[in-house]
Amino acid sequence: MSSLVDIKNVTKIYRTVASEFHALKGVDFHLAKGEMVAIVGTSGSGKSTLMNIIGFLDRCTTGKYLFTNQDVSNLQEKELAQIRNKKIGFVFQSFFLLPRLNAMQNVMLPLFYRGTDSDVAKQKSLNMLVKVGMEKFAHHKPNQLSGGQQQRVAIARALVGDPEIILADEPTGALDSKTGQDVMNLFAELNRDERRTIIIVTHNHEVSQQCQRIVCLKDGKIC
Ligand SMILES: Nc1ncnc2c1ncn2[C@@H]1O[C@H](COP(=O)(O)OP(=O)(O)OP(=O)(O)O)[C@@H](O)[C@H]1O
Ligand SMILES: [Mg+2]
Repeated sequence: MSSLVDIKNVTKIYRTVASEFHALKGVDFHLAKGEMVAIVGTSGSGKSTLMNIIGFLDRCTTGKYLFTNQDVSNLQEKELAQIRNKKIGFVFQSFFLLPRLNAMQNVMLPLFYRGTDSDVAKQKSLNMLVKVGMEKFAHHKPNQLSGGQQQRVAIARALVGDPEIILADEPTGALDSKTGQDVMNLFAELNRDERRTIIIVTHNHEVSQQCQRIVCLKDGKIC
């Protein structure tokens, strides 16, 4: 299987004027195309830090990051932003939909940032809303949707740009267990039927058990 993420001996130090904090202490992480992996660990163990590095939202302090076999450790911010926009789809615990935009417009956003023609963007967004079962709600604003429905829209937004990886940080954390399971079923379906590569950070044992592989972090190290 082809390699998507190859992280070698990565550290992350958060520095403030008064102190420094070692959030990752030499982490190795490998991800192949088509995998569905859970990252687990107690609060503060470095899960989001690792996800942010994988998703080009932050940089490691030391170590090496190969993305699709390309060394991205030393790329400029602009180049990282381009990779992020094209290759990574994000799903967060609190959905992060823009409140003034309706579901369809929220899904269109990544394409808008890429400069995609608006008719093409609309069609693609509608297709994604169909995929997550939300086409009837295309013109609803986030505050007119339940938590589970908002998360489905957020997943459609993550998928619309056809990313290499979907990074989901506690995607079921704000949902009741039934709705959370619906969201997990959707991820499992995307992985199984479309070979989507997915990383899910979770505290929830039932969620991690539905992934093919579990990576555990403790105090900034793989455990
Ligand atoms: N910007 C920052 N500046 C300083 N310290 C930070 C910063 N971001 C995170 N940390 C610290 O790094 C450690 C790891 O944080 P991280 O957010 O990766 O944890 P996590 O495993 O995602 O936790 P949770 O399950 O609570 O989301 C924590 O101790 C946190 O306080
Ligand atoms: Mg976190």
